[in-house]
Amino acid sequence: MTKRSTPLLLIGETSNIRDHVAKKLLEEKFETTEIEQMEQGPVSIILFLFDRQSAKLSIYLLQQVHLEKYEMDQLFIFDDKKTNSLADNESFVQSLIKASTNAVELFFSDVHVDSERVGDVVAKHLLHDLIHPSSHQMVKREISLKEKEIVGVVGLGYVGLPVAVGFSEHYPVIGFDVDDGKIAKLKKGEDPSEQFTQESLVATKIDFTTNAKKLRRCAYIIVAVPTPISASKEPDLSYLEAASQLIGENLTPDTIVVYESTVYPGATEEVCSPILEKASNLKVGKDFFIGYSPERINPGDHEHTFRTIPKIVAGQSAFVAETLYQLYQNVIKAPVYKASSIKVAETAKVVENTQRDINIAFMNELAQIFYHLDIPTEDVLAAAGTKWNFLPFSPGLVGGHCIGVDPYYLIHKARLAGYEPSFLTAAREVNESMVDHVTNLVMQQIVHHQTPWDNLKITVLGGTFKENIGDIRNSKALEILKNLLNLGLSVQLCDPHITEGSVQDIYGISNKSFDELEKADIVIAAVPHDVFNWERLKTILKETSTVIDIKSSIPLHYIPKEVTLLRL
Ligand SMILES: NC(=O)c1ccc[n+]([C@@H]2O[C@H](COP(=O)([O-])OP(=O)(O)OC[C@H]3O[C@@H](n4cnc5c(N)ncnc54)[C@H](O)[C@@H]3O)[C@@H](O)[C@H]2O)c1
Repeated sequence: MTKRSTPLLLIGETSNIRDHVAKKLLEEKFETTEIEQMEQGPVSIILFLFDRQSAKLSIYLLQQVHLEKYEMDQLFIFDDKKTNSLADNESFVQSLIKASTNAVELFFSDVHVDSERVGDVVAKHLLHDLIHPSSHQMVKREISLKEKEIVGVVGLGYVGLPVAVGFSEHYPVIGFDVDDGKIAKLKKGEDPSEQFTQESLVATKIDFTTNAKKLRRCAYIIVAVPTPISASKEPDLSYLEAASQLIGENLTPDTIVVYESTVYPGATEEVCSPILEKASNLKVGKDFFIGYSPERINPGDHEHTFRTIPKIVAGQSAFVAETLYQLYQNVIKAPVYKASSIKVAETAKVVENTQRDINIAFMNELAQIFYHLDIPTEDVLAAAGTKWNFLPFSPGLVGGHCIGVDPYYLIHKARLAGYEPSFLTAAREVNESMVDHVTNLVMQQIVHHQTPWDNLKITVLGGTFKENIGDIRNSKALEILKNLLNLGLSVQLCDPHITEGSVQDIYGISNKSFDELEKADIVIAAVPHDVFNWERLKTILKETSTVIDIKSSIPLHYIPKEVTLLRL
């Protein structure tokens, strides 16, 4: 909540604009007052002098207030260059300026037709000056409605690229990345993350670059660099620190830097902001500003996209939050939500993913219990799911760089604060144990069928960390594959989404097409991409095969009767 004691008196006959501004100020908890309700004490005045006729009336109304009785705090004059209404009332306005502690004159340099748009711009400038008052007695600024501010996006991966593309529909965008191979591809319209077609990427007109100096032209810089964990499962903020250093070296006054990378509560203000200040020699909250907007993009999901997912924004002050709210509202179809602080927005993001981690961990624990009790998990969940408040989660592998990583950020911060989050760590352990559980299922099948080790063939279908994308970072399917290879088993992988070479480089095996697969004794349907045609499953099975369907995604009628089917 913004704390402010001086009431604001809004005077202006351009009622639509005035009403819109009054609404915005009230939303930000600023106290407004009417002439008739004014009490003794300090007051700030917001004077609208938009067209000649209504300007005359505004001045007349103000002249009715015996201002000598009040202590004049800030004075804001919104003026229109075209009608030059201020000149008609020069001496009266000059006396007002003299009586105020600080006056700001903002004049529009272009014609304004849409009062809501003008109101938004006026409110934005007002909030800026109310929250960050100038030390000068009089400030004069020209504002243009036509002005298109440049948006810079730093880090063009699974998150940064859709953000850059989304903004490019309404703003000029500079897309910066340190990976020159990636930038060369993007310039040609090739998207390494398989999210955009060549045609659509070329049409965006984004200025893809590795030249950080171009960021100096940006009014907003959005940061979407990786925030992984170290080998000891501690937050690794090295990318974020390097990006902040680079941005700081190219930071110009009045820029708002918005972090979208997932972090632990406090990281933006405690880690990133000091780096920006030091590298830029500018003061945060005075010369430049910071905000946070957690990203919920779900790569491979065409329904929940940058434009359709509700967006949280937060700023270091009400002005920054409001500015970001308007910025994101221009490009996002879904609602934009203003969080009460940067820390709250950072926490909300890690909590969203931690909640999923915990719920899936519960399912995975049940799956392991039911395996020992010989009860089909799927049937239990179907039965329990008939209750109105039973949550529809299912067991599975939790890999990637969000659900399997973000809880460690919260765990880290909780421990620093002296609290051991045993529930969160237990959930992580259960989900991590699923790789061994599936490996054990494979071993038991081998023992059960007494298949000679040397003749045994195992197929893994899908090696990415989740369906329909090519991302193999922290893939649990590949961890299972690695376990089996380490046991000396003959394993073949088929994943149409994984780019050539990457699996060969890491595991020394080739990534086969479905047609190249040899019939296998055990087929693990690890990641059920949409491109898999389950009708053809029987062509890669032997009569005595076992199918381990990790996500219970293969329709039962595609599994031949003689084949053993295991599900989690
Ligand atoms: N991928 C997701 O599903 C997802 C969803 C929500 C939030 N997030 C979060 O968003 C952030 C980014 O994730 P991602 O999946 O897009 O990562 P990514 O690895 O796909 O992309 C990151 C990009 O940043 C670039 N980069 C690294 N250091 C840089 C620097 N100093 N300056 C400029 N560019 C730099 C890399 O070259 C890469 O292109 C992470 O914090 C992640 O947790 C990811």
